[in-house]
Amino acid sequence: MNDASKPAHVVVLGNEKGGTGKSTIAMHMAVAFANAGGRVGVIDLDVRQKSVSRYIENRLATAARGGAALPAPTVYDLPGDGIEALAETAARAIREQDLLIVDTPGAATELSRAGHVFADTLVTPLNDSFIDLDVLGRVTAEPFQVVRPSHYAELVWETRKERARAGRQPLRWFVLRNRLSHVDARNKRAMEEAISALAQRVGFVPVAGLGERVIYRELFLHGLTLLDIRTPGVEIDLSVSHIAARQELRALFNAVGFTDIIPGA
Ligand SMILES: Nc1ncnc2c1ncn2[C@@H]1O[C@H](COP(=O)(O)OP(=O)(O)O)[C@@H](O)[C@H]1O
Ligand SMILES: [Mg+2]
Repeated sequence: MNDASKPAHVVVLGNEKGGTGKSTIAMHMAVAFANAGGRVGVIDLDVRQKSVSRYIENRLATAARGGAALPAPTVYDLPGDGIEALAETAARAIREQDLLIVDTPGAATELSRAGHVFADTLVTPLNDSFIDLDVLGRVTAEPFQVVRPSHYAELVWETRKERARAGRQPLRWFVLRNRLSHVDARNKRAMEEAISALAQRVGFVPVAGLGERVIYRELFLHGLTLLDIRTPGVEIDLSVSHIAARQELRALFNAVGFTDIIPGA
């Protein structure tokens, strides 16, 4: 983790769809790593919403008010709005950090596409809905058959080709369902089947998802995450639901290869 000469591992959160949990998961990954003592940088390519940047500002403000030690990721602002500014900034972040998290907007901007090329690991959250799945591929109902990949899957395919041309390691792509409800078991099973059909066709690994929990929405203004619950001075009630949520996060981090970075979950 602290080998200064080793380039950062780059995780990109991406999906051509807003509101699926990209920024929330980006923040939780970054904080998990920072809390464990790793050097972590964040590049926020959602230049309109800037959710992760705002989230980190809130964290710094909470830390400045005192009371809790809250390690924070380093935010790398782009010096311009073009691809060159991104390339320059990403290269610097990759030199300086152990982990670089790149959050992207829910739309196919030029900057988002360019950001994907840096991904060693791509994480795509979906809502548990066939409408979200359709962004990855056309799927028929019962039996689930993949008709063809959709735009986003094609973007990932192009990214893979570009990496291969540059002689870089293959990209690892993980897809997870976010905001899972406890009630809709039938839809859940159907989604599972459809996702595994699509996974083979377009080349991603399905990983266990995160449940729908109000706590995720409450933490933003304080810049806190579920990984801060046990930090002295942090005032979040530890409920059964929060513990379950941390376990889901931990399972997610393990599945994408972040083993052992979350202290005492
Ligand atoms: N597992 C979850 N349970 C409940 N709310 C969630 C969960 N994940 C994300 N949210 C909420 O859903 C909204 C969209 O999440 P966000 O991370 O901003 O998505 P994106 O970056 O993909 O647009 C936010 O209000 C966020 O707090
Ligand atoms: Mg976002």
